Amino acid sequence: MSKPKVFITRKWPAAVEAKLSQLYDVTLNETDRPLTAKEFKTALQQYDAVCPTVCDAFPAEVINVENRRCKILGNFGVGYNHIDVAAAKQQGLIVTNTPGVLTESTADIAMTLLLMSARRGAEGDRLVRAKKWTGWCPTQLMSSDVTGATLGLIGFGRIAQAMARKAHHGFGMKILYLKPSPAEQAIVDDLQAVRCDSIEELLPQADFVSLHCPGGAATKHLMNAERLALMKPTAHLINTARGDVVDSQSLIEALKAGTIRGAGLDVYENEPNLHPGFLQLENVALLPHLGSATIATRTAMGEKVLANLAAFFASEALPDRVV
Ligand code: DGY
Repeated sequence: MSKPKVFITRKWPAAVEAKLSQLYDVTLNETDRPLTAKEFKTALQQYDAVCPTVCDAFPAEVINVENRRCKILGNFGVGYNHIDVAAAKQQGLIVTNTPGVLTESTADIAMTLLLMSARRGAEGDRLVRAKKWTGWCPTQLMSSDVTGATLGLIGFGRIAQAMARKAHHGFGMKILYLKPSPAEQAIVDDLQAVRCDSIEELLPQADFVSLHCPGGAATKHLMNAERLALMKPTAHLINTARGDVVDSQSLIEALKAGTIRGAGLDVYENEPNLHPGFLQLENVALLPHLGSATIATRTAMGEKVLANLAAFFASEALPDRVV
């Protein structure tokens, strides 16, 4: 019997690509070139499974391609706001994702950004590299304390809770969180976490605000000019969720005007073409969407896709079905 045809849109860790090659008639993207909507449509017409990543847009216009052969989008990533899941559902196209395995690495990057922003790490690095550092002095790059400060988490899923554990147990931070329903009592007790009823209640109390909600229409520009203005002038905003949760222009204005002290960003509106205003600012730490980028995590994400494909082709229940 011939092997199922599987299309991989970007380069994956070698160990996972090797397994894919053993199991399937697979087309890999050896050069890691970003593909076009036209190429995705062709892939949907020619392959049984297509495996996109978080940077590959699958809007309805692509999903609704005629003569589709593909039955499953095995997404390499936990977020799926780049896929029109309503269109996929309507078309009977299965979508899976990779939850669980990138929790700690993404929370680590959120803490990295929190520390970089608080302690002006990126600025210090630039100063040294530019050979402008003239030596220690009492007032150079003075920054914000992390230990004992208050962390406000917008969204309180797996990644936010992992960040809260690191922040509370590692840095003695007080934890506030925003979630539609209270978190499990054991988690609340462990973190001594306090739930806020609204974002308006959380923002003025937090020294660091970290975003952990899904992207998409419901959260677009959740952090707008009005909400940024509710943050303390000494506070920092951390975003490892999705770029469109923050209104870039308003954040740039707040950082410029000093209505907040700093920001640490791993995700952007219109990635990788972030708003050029960010590049002019000293008080923002910028990372290139590194949340899950450890060797072990990226390999585990690939393994998750493999598990979803295996279940699909064996007509078994899918471990991580989105629709
Ligand atoms: C995801 O999986 O959604 C991250 O943004 C990339 O790892």
